[in-house]
Amino acid sequence: IREDPSHVGDYIANYICRRINDFAPTAEKPFVLGLPTGSSPIPTYKSLIKLVKDGKLSFKHVVTFNMDEYVGLPQDHSESYHTFMFREFFSHSRYLNLPFTVDIPPSQVHILNGNAPDLIGECKSYEEQIKSFGGIELFLGGIGEDGHIAFNEPGSSLASRTRIKTLAYDTILANARFFNNDISAVPRMALTVGVATVLDSREVVVVVTGQRKALALSKAIEEGVNHLWTLSALQLHPWALIVVDEDATAEL
Ligand code: GLP
Repeated sequence: IREDPSHVGDYIANYICRRINDFAPTAEKPFVLGLPTGSSPIPTYKSLIKLVKDGKLSFKHVVTFNMDEYVGLPQDHSESYHTFMFREFFSHSRYLNLPFTVDIPPSQVHILNGNAPDLIGECKSYEEQIKSFGGIELFLGGIGEDGHIAFNEPGSSLASRTRIKTLAYDTILANARFFNNDISAVPRMALTVGVATVLDSREVVVVVTGQRKALALSKAIEEGVNHLWTLSALQLHPWALIVVDEDATAEL
């Protein structure tokens, strides 16, 4: 538990930095990192960017896999997760006030294509690509107010793999804030890694901030493993860490 979102971001960024540096990745053996979108990871991204800028961390030998992407939203739409990742992290200039990029070669970035002609094939090939790199070393995640990890909405199988998922109405409502509060503009479906894809990672780190997430946090860590709060599946993981701010602990 850290004081506020910015301390949570600093903590996680330093944690990931240590993991990557201890791993000592090379071109032959890159560090495979799973990444989320949403507002919660932004302080972590901001802090990771600073670590790169200060020369304490390099993404040169890091391979990334994002958790999810909307179906049918053009890749260059301002709210697609592609745009989000390049805006907030991969090619960053916003917070530092100068043109700057984390040094990750774009060919090492993987994000599901929500406009692929064969969506099922896209999901299958994503799982295969993850496997081809020997699996994910550390998956960083966020959660929705309904406790979903990635887009594994309430009721998702805990054995699920990357697939198409219809979004829960609560998620559509929650995400309308990114679409000028126009509920009808929010995509109805997404591609998402499955709960089992996340559980397969050697380590999982989840960021949970704000009082809106307090109920989900308490359901996931103080009640049993439950497919209605998919974050709770982390109770089955041998190496999971949830980093939260004080507001998120309101229901604990
Ligand atoms: C979306 C994403 C999730 C993310 C969630 C939280 O639903 N698919 O992966 O965890 O948003 O968003 P925020 O951090 O903005 O609350």
